[in-house]
Amino acid sequence: MEFSFSEEQLMIRQAARDYAQRELFLDVIERDEKSIYPEKHVKALAELGFMGMMVDPKYDGGGMDAVSYVLAMEEISKVDSSVAVIMSVNNSLVCWGLETFGNEEQKEKWLKPLARGEKIGAFLLSEPEAGSDATSQRTTAEDHGDFYLLNGTKNWITNGNTASTYLVIAQTDTSAGHKGINAFIVDRHSAGISVGPHENKMGMRSSDTHSVMFTDVKVPKENRIGENGFGFKFAMQTLDGGRIGIAAQALGIASGAYELAVKYAKQRKAFGTEIINHQAVAFKLADMAVKIETARLLVLKAAWLKDQHKPYGIASAMAKQYCADIAMEVTTEAVQIHGGYGYVKEYHVERLMREAKLTQIYEGTSEIQKVVISRAISRNEINF
Ligand code: CAA
Repeated sequence: MEFSFSEEQLMIRQAARDYAQRELFLDVIERDEKSIYPEKHVKALAELGFMGMMVDPKYDGGGMDAVSYVLAMEEISKVDSSVAVIMSVNNSLVCWGLETFGNEEQKEKWLKPLARGEKIGAFLLSEPEAGSDATSQRTTAEDHGDFYLLNGTKNWITNGNTASTYLVIAQTDTSAGHKGINAFIVDRHSAGISVGPHENKMGMRSSDTHSVMFTDVKVPKENRIGENGFGFKFAMQTLDGGRIGIAAQALGIASGAYELAVKYAKQRKAFGTEIINHQAVAFKLADMAVKIETARLLVLKAAWLKDQHKPYGIASAMAKQYCADIAMEVTTEAVQIHGGYGYVKEYHVERLMREAKLTQIYEGTSEIQKVVISRAISRNEINF
């Protein structure tokens, strides 16, 4: 068993760390407060090759492995999870979905600009009445021979306004349940698309979250991904990989909060000594460190399995659930260690705590991950 990283993986992590600490950190509080979309940072990440990290270079991607991707995600998320989620959706949902299941023409036309980061993608699965219950899609795509007509509303769409390319999940045959669901590549500027206002969120406030409405939107037949009826499995398999990215994001939020808490505990004095010398604080930090290390092992294992082309759906659900839950615990303790200072924006930990909450909700709630894991237990697929 090998627990070390390659030179290349370490270089990628360092590049992400440098960018996050030197550039993202500077204006993260203002972006969060005013919900400012981080346009210049998304462009800079594209230049670093971070918007299509795992895409084959023949489709203009970075050709990096999933382990490198999670290392970069962790570093970016330590500082700004709004930027991290923009990166994550583009990399692990949109680019991966297109590269894995798209045909050659689709990859040439749609994947290449996304992998270069010239264009941004969005993944449109959730609906007002279909979040966790993803098979209950109400958005319809009616077959009209050469094209489909798309009607319906999607909710909580990351990159909903800035994306040029949408991957839309819709029902083509309402009588066929999940087998009547398809996935489509949709040009965001097609006639009949309208985008709702920016959601005023608790955390990750500068990422671009919107509802998207489709009214008689014409989608060419060649934009359907895969065989007829493949859309639900497309969404599920794509989310298996997406959840590794969100697990890495949650891990980054937790480790960012931990690092701030350690620094503060070594400087702040109370009762005549630095507070790290008080067992009440020291034991909190010890618990936080153990949780982060455990979370890191789960994320890296899921990414490693993906790189080895071994099944990783269950590992990804475990990593997502655990990392998100400990991110909430660790950030809450980081605020507690900071006392009153933790409750004000300048110390960053309150923002990390708000960001942690979303990792328990999107790309499958913590409860949905337990559904996935417990069903695998019932099928005798989890054995130690
Ligand atoms: N891989 C391949 N196939 C899968 C699969 C997977 N991971 N999971 C399910 N399937 C298949 C099943 O085998 C089944 O196929 P058959 O009928 O041919 O056997 C079919 O899909 C239906 O599966 P289920 O019966 O298990 O479906 P279900 O209705 O019980 O739902 C669920 C399963 C796991 C709860 C699923 O609905 C789910 O994951 N829900 C959460 C959705 C989610 O994560 N949403 C996040 C939105 S995206 C987002 O947040 C992006 C963003 O912008 C940040």
